This record gives sequence, structure tokens and C-alpha cells, in this order.
Amino acid sequence: MSQTKIDTTKIFAWMGRKGGIGKTTGATTLASKLALQGFNTLLVDADGQGNASSTVGIEPYDGFASLVLEDVEWSDVLSLVPESFAGPGLRFDILSAAELQSEVEHADYNLVTQAIYERFQELNGIYDVIVVDTSPSITAIHTAFYYTADYILLPTMNEDDSIGSLARSIAYISKASAQASQQPGAPAVAQILGIVPQKISMRFLADRLMYRHLQQFYGAHYNVLPPVMRRAAWRSARTLTQSIWTAEVPGATAARGEFEPVARLVTSLLNPTQINPAQEVVS
Ligand SMILES: Nc1ncnc2c1ncn2[C@@H]1O[C@H](COP(=O)(O)OP(=O)(O)O)[C@@H](O)[C@H]1O
Ligand SMILES: [Mg+2]
Repeated sequence: MSQTKIDTTKIFAWMGRKGGIGKTTGATTLASKLALQGFNTLLVDADGQGNASSTVGIEPYDGFASLVLEDVEWSDVLSLVPESFAGPGLRFDILSAAELQSEVEHADYNLVTQAIYERFQELNGIYDVIVVDTSPSITAIHTAFYYTADYILLPTMNEDDSIGSLARSIAYISKASAQASQQPGAPAVAQILGIVPQKISMRFLADRLMYRHLQQFYGAHYNVLPPVMRRAAWRSARTLTQSIWTAEVPGATAARGEFEPVARLVTSLLNPTQINPAQEVVS
């Protein structure tokens, strides 16, 4: 028997045991797309490096750690995502993380897991959707989001040990899931929603083989999304502190098209939104 999870607010966590594979890019791009579609969206930066925060134009601050360690109010630690990132009139907030995140990572495992789970339960019904960016190391924060999130997205690229770290992530999540199902009253573990191949060059044989490998080995059990190609547009948008949806940079249209399937998959799991602030602003 599983405990009831947050039901009206859906939580999607980007995870992966490797840096540079596109977790932060995926999280910030997905969150901004959902906000542009009119969903009341919270982006959670759970990585003490604060990359998701700086990507949207926020100086990283210890909101996450305060929430978990000091029991502050949510309203004290949330910020609006600057309009410069994805446009005006959006219902788009961020919870930032900075140096103190390491204290959360090194605090008692069970207490951290419990605290994060409970704090996010408080947001039930307040946001339509919460998108979480995590760090590459495996910490209590990750375990907490196995239970707190509804879905996990696993980006992967073709470099060094990416396939190996993807396999380890899947094994780890599956193990947590099996353990949770044996504990009466334990919250269910998030479902792996999809594997997102990022920074792929179809010009290179190795990348094409890697994509085929992903489809062959994981396609039967998981959603292997179409590849998000390696394009300079991603870095250009990042340099401008703009989302790919709003940045007028070469290659942005193609990049948007390649990321759309991720956004569509996530949107299909959300309740249709009532208002679309982005459209209101236009009309
Ligand atoms: N499809 C892509 N093509 C080219 N560069 C990309 C792509 N996706 C992400 N990047 C770049 O790769 C770098 C690492 O991505 P990031 O999302 O920060 O990874 P992580 O959060 O997993 O460490 C960033 O500079 C980002 O702009
Ligand atoms: Mg990152």
C-alpha cells in the first residue's frame, strides 16, 4: 500500500549521475515551456551549484536549505523567474539553492528525506507543476525526490561513461522502488518517465549507434525520446540568460522542435490549464 502523494501538483525531477548531460538545460527549458503554456510552474534548483538559478537570471541563494533546515515559510524563499528569461506575465517561480545545500546533503539521511517529502506536500494544489533540477552526485536529496517526485526524466549523452551512469541510475531507482513496495505505508517511488538523449550529433557514427543502443536496450520498458541534437543555440541562449523559447539565436527553431516531444509528454500528464497568461499578454 502506498501513501497518497501530492495529487493535484505533479512533480518532475531531472536526474543523472553525471555532470554536463543536460539536467539543468532540460529542467529550465521544460519549466519555461510549461509556464508559457499557462501552467502555474515552480522550478526547483536542488543543486548547490545554483546553475538552474543562474540560467534563469537569479543569483543563487539558500532557499532550499532554509526550507529544509530552518523551517521557514515557502513564501520567504520563493522568487519570481525574471521576465527576461521566458517572457512577461507568467506564473513562474523558482526556489534557489547555494552553498548551504551541502549541509542538507550531509544531514541525517532519513530526516532529510522526510523533511523534503513533507515540505513539498505543503505545495499540493498551489502549483500545477514542479520541475526539479538535481546535482550529479547521489545524496539524500536524490533519495528524497525518488519519493517526492511523481516522474523522473533521465537525460543522457554520448560521452565517456554516460550509458553506464544511465544504467546505474535506472538500477538505483528500480531498487528504491522495489524496497518501497515492500514497506507498508511507504510513499511510492517516482516513475521513470523518459530517457532524453541530449547533445547528440547524428553526423557521428558513435552518436547514431548510441541512440540505437538506447532504443534497443531501453525502448521496450521506457520512453526513449527523440534526440535533442547538439546545437550552438543552447549555449547561445544560456549566454543571453534566455530560454530557448524566447531567444532569437541561430538554430533556436530547430532546437525548440527537438525539445517539444519532452514538453508534450509532460503536458499530457497535466490537467488542462484554465488561462494562458502568455496569450493574454499578446492580445
Ligand atoms: N543539445 C545541446 N547542444 C549543445 N549544448 C548543450 C545542449 N544541451 C545542453 N548543452 C550545454 O551543455 C552544458 C551542460 O549542460 P547542463 O544542462 O548544465 O548539464 P548538467 O546540468 O547535467 O550538468 C551547458 O553549457 C549547456 O548549455
Ligand atoms: Mg546542472
